[in-house]
Amino acid sequence: MNENFDNKAATWDANQQRVIRAKELFDKILEVIPVGEDMSILDFGCGTGLLGFNFAPHVKHVTFADTSAKMLEQVEQKALKLRYNNCTTLNLEKSQITRQYNIIASLLTLHHITEFETAIINLLDSLTPGGYICLCDLDPEDGSFHREQVPHCGIQRRRIHTLLEARGIQIISNTAGITINKTIDNLEKEYTTFLIIGKKLTE
Ligand SMILES: C[S@@+](CC[C@H](N)C(=O)[O-])C[C@H]1O[C@@H](n2cnc3c(N)ncnc32)[C@H](O)[C@@H]1O
Repeated sequence: MNENFDNKAATWDANQQRVIRAKELFDKILEVIPVGEDMSILDFGCGTGLLGFNFAPHVKHVTFADTSAKMLEQVEQKALKLRYNNCTTLNLEKSQITRQYNIIASLLTLHHITEFETAIINLLDSLTPGGYICLCDLDPEDGSFHREQVPHCGIQRRRIHTLLEARGIQIISNTAGITINKTIDNLEKEYTTFLIIGKKLTE
């Protein structure tokens, strides 16, 4: 049950900036890692699938995983509309990730997870040897980004960098991700994000 995001699902894509930013992030990922037609991709915390659908035309399969059933309904409707038959959804409230993926990508989800480090460690188990993990999330912010309370007001890059390295992941890239502009109390505010890409070494 994920009431907050269930309530937001139907209108999530009405904010065109989200669509544009997800494409921008996809392009940044493509600059760093190869994406091939034999690959399976996991979009973790996919929402309506804004990041994962960028991969879909180029790869074998995309799994869209989220804890919001309503977000996943949006993904399913979109896949039908776009006639993509290589997309499946995974409701993480009901099922676990069991497959192995060549690329695991996540956009703006980790700060919504209290134990995000545990979540990342679990994701690494689902990465094929030689696979890539691509994590984009908010840099630390002053708490104004959300109206509601969230587990983390951004995440320090070094926490993720250190965790990945400690797990034997080679850091391929640790850079700025997308930038998000919001008007808060009539003031324009800019929120930065990071994009950390790591590679699981082959045994
Ligand atoms: C800010 S939204 C981002 C959605 C999408 N990645 C995007 O950028 O449009 C965060 C998403 O994380 C999902 N989420 C929250 N907790 C989660 C968890 N523990 N595991 C997986 N997804 C989760 C929410 O349901 C929501 O769809």
